[in-house]
Amino acid sequence: MQKQDLDQFRQIVEQLLKKEQSEPIVEPIPADELWNRLDISLNEEPLADEQFYNALQQLVYNTPRTASKKFFNQLFAGRKSKSVLGDLLSIVLNNSMYTYKVAGPMVGVEKEIIHRTSDLLGYDKQADGTIVTGGSLANFMAMVMGRDRFQDSIRDEGVSKKMTLYTSEDCHYSIAKNASLMGTGREQVRFVETDETGRMIPSDLKRLVQEDISNGFQPFFVNVTAGTTVMGAFDPIPEVSAICKEFNLWLHIDGAYCGAVVFSKEYKRLVNGVELADSFNVNAHKMLGTPLTCSVLIVKDKVDLNRSFSTDADYLYQTDGDDFNLGKISLQCGRKNDALKLWTLWKSLGTSGLAKMVDHQFYLADVARKYIQDHPDYTLYSYEDSVSICFNYKGIDPKKLCTRLYEEAALMVGYGTFKHDTFVRFVTVNADNSEEDIIAFFKDLEAFVDAHEAELMGDQKLSAS
Ligand SMILES: Cc1ncc(COP(=O)(O)O)c(C=O)c1O
Repeated sequence: MQKQDLDQFRQIVEQLLKKEQSEPIVEPIPADELWNRLDISLNEEPLADEQFYNALQQLVYNTPRTASKKFFNQLFAGRKSKSVLGDLLSIVLNNSMYTYKVAGPMVGVEKEIIHRTSDLLGYDKQADGTIVTGGSLANFMAMVMGRDRFQDSIRDEGVSKKMTLYTSEDCHYSIAKNASLMGTGREQVRFVETDETGRMIPSDLKRLVQEDISNGFQPFFVNVTAGTTVMGAFDPIPEVSAICKEFNLWLHIDGAYCGAVVFSKEYKRLVNGVELADSFNVNAHKMLGTPLTCSVLIVKDKVDLNRSFSTDADYLYQTDGDDFNLGKISLQCGRKNDALKLWTLWKSLGTSGLAKMVDHQFYLADVARKYIQDHPDYTLYSYEDSVSICFNYKGIDPKKLCTRLYEEAALMVGYGTFKHDTFVRFVTVNADNSEEDIIAFFKDLEAFVDAHEAELMGDQKLSAS
């Protein structure tokens, strides 16, 4: 790497860190003005260094700041320094994780994460896993393994039967998308009803499975969610597992959002029965605060991983055993080292430090819920044990409120819908936030509403009069 680029990098980052403090939210550039406002276009001729650095700085300084104290828009936020360090080094090293020959000790780094996470789940030595680019892909791999265990010949012949899979009506959208990609089809996804807190109702699952069997379908897979995307609800694993055992179905736990509770002594109870699943995933880039992307997929029986993903290639696998050639159990061929950023964090904080991060996020959620309960202008839609705080304020349309907060660079927060209600969804996944930061969010929101009352509440006033 050229020294001048390294110097530039340092300068840009130092400046960005200052700006995150002084101006936590960048004023958004309207999408249709982007090419006019920034030097984005790629041209035939090279650019002089000064112009190039200038274009790059403008680009960086105008990009949304996800590590600032006012970013609550997604299920990730913040910046864990040790993890950033690991990620930066993985980029500079530029290994591909497919072989030991090319990745060397980084293979050990990934395997260590897989083994220690398996231990937390209560899986034995037969377990294995891989690091994937996100929860969507982890879910996809789990679905493919479930499909192939159901019928081995599908790998060669393709899907010819009407195979059905089950997930709650509040699951992540990747389940339906993956069903289409893996060949079973979106129409074969059954959405199980959830209760008033957003948890899958096991009796409805059983009803759907039995109905499908009597209609000639072949059930093969159930997904439960540990932290649903909107409400942060945890499906009941033991009850669902009993149904999976009865009908011989693969049980996957999508813990992309909140599977990190396995690190916490206090909150592991939310995934009680986790050891019963065939596969489990957790996004380290959500509750564990690593940079995007880092998702850990654990499989109870390594045979399943190998059956679905191992393919020989003598131009690639030339030294060492399969155990150390991670390409044998991954979907991609070339694969970035996404393990190092989680390893650096875990190594520096210890398992107990990761547990503290998780516990703190639930504490922040309690602070937020209490604030809402203590202030009558708010309506709360969330339940205990969730890091998604869903609420409305003064009956204001949440879509309008979140959009105006964004347009005016006041706060970054989004909205969600559960059953018949739409609300602001405020997530407390930035473990670097304090109680004061959470209260400041509400104060900022209230001040914004005060300043824009006529515009935001016009409709309500009209309908009240
Ligand atoms: C429950 C759940 N599963 C899966 C995903 C997808 O994860 P990714 O964005 O890493 O693909 C999400 C993302 O928010 C999620 O909330």
